Amino acid sequence: MITALRGMKDLFGNDAKLYEYIIKVSSKIAKNYGYEFCEMPKLEATNLFKRSVGESSDIVGKEMYEFLDKSGNEVCLRPEGTAGVVRGFIEAKFDRVAKVRKFFYYGSMFRYERPQKGRLREFRQFGVECFGESSVYEDAALISLGVEILKELNIKHTLKINSLGSGLAMQNFKQNLVEFVKFKQENMCQDCQRRLVLNPMRILDCKNEACKEILKNAPKMIDNLSQEDRAEFELLCQILRENGIKFEIDHKLVRGLDYYCKSAFEFVSDEIGSQSAIIGGGRYDKLVEFLGGRPTFAVGFAIGVDRLMEILKNKEIKDEKKIYLCTLDERFLPEIFKISTRLRKFHNVEMSYDIKSFSKHLNFAIKGKFNTLLCIGEDEAKNGEILYKNLDENRQNLIKIENLEKEI
Ligand code: HAM
Repeated sequence: MITALRGMKDLFGNDAKLYEYIIKVSSKIAKNYGYEFCEMPKLEATNLFKRSVGESSDIVGKEMYEFLDKSGNEVCLRPEGTAGVVRGFIEAKFDRVAKVRKFFYYGSMFRYERPQKGRLREFRQFGVECFGESSVYEDAALISLGVEILKELNIKHTLKINSLGSGLAMQNFKQNLVEFVKFKQENMCQDCQRRLVLNPMRILDCKNEACKEILKNAPKMIDNLSQEDRAEFELLCQILRENGIKFEIDHKLVRGLDYYCKSAFEFVSDEIGSQSAIIGGGRYDKLVEFLGGRPTFAVGFAIGVDRLMEILKNKEIKDEKKIYLCTLDERFLPEIFKISTRLRKFHNVEMSYDIKSFSKHLNFAIKGKFNTLLCIGEDEAKNGEILYKNLDENRQNLIKIENLEKEI
């Protein structure tokens, strides 16, 4: 038997409903915040991710599904959504018009990680990206958007925020970090030694115990921010407080991708193992320019939809109301077929092609959790009627077929 690949998941039944439900809730709220849907390719040039997500990241270093296509091009299944949206944004020349644009997207991302609870190789994200807005109010609006989605889904969480600074201050801070670990470097893990060369800030969130110990009293970015960045970060904290959004400042939060500056944030949950991130995001004001576009402010986040599904897995998603349409006699199949087409304009209708007794139809409809049963037998057909049974309230009556839409 051929099975799904390790770390890849089929979505059927309640899983599929849950996925659909999370996307529906998130899309609705994102639209209320002014975000519009976009869809990007899942396969991109490998270089796109090397340049944006960055060589210091585990994603580029170890986890990409990269290969040569039949023409010898280096291509890669997208490990995340931001880089593709930025590429598309530049290609559509949106960077040349001074206009704020906000997009949301959802779908599969691919990372060759060690599969475990809440960690897959093909996983789904719901992402939002805002371009052209420098105001820290948009950072706050994005965070509020994340909070509203989690609230609507009834998911408990902790919000962690930090500022990564920008420009010279960020450069100096990286230098300070390198200085700080200068004589302890060889006791750090292989990943950190690589990070020290490529993006020293990434050593701050290393999970290795030896590295953590070395970095206990490491300098904090927050103490090294420029005046302007500090004021923005304070304003962000103030907006969140004024709007009742609880948060913790986490000096070690640096995010696993290289493109961030200024605000960085994560929503974590302890319902899928220890403190798993369920949303991650932040500002990336340099990325559009770095990928060849005109300088454009940008901020966004992505939700790990599979992680939310794991948290909500025991929650049953209510189906829309369903109608079971049947007949007791083969002669009336053409009639109920016509009725099914009429009703499907408004309702979820399952038409039974089976000819069986009323009690068998009824049992089937009850087991299938239908809300309504409609049935035509000899007597009903004679009078141009149909039997209507409300299964939720256990009552029934006859309805004229021509009045069906009005009466059910
Ligand atoms: P990220 O933190 O790499 O950020 O991923 C966002 C979320 O995707 C994580 O918080 C987590 O919930 C989920 N996730 C990541 N890896 C896996 C996995 N292997 N299995 C299941 N879920 C996973 C980004 O991807 C950025 N593009 C977010 C962003 C958008 N920043 C700005 N705009």
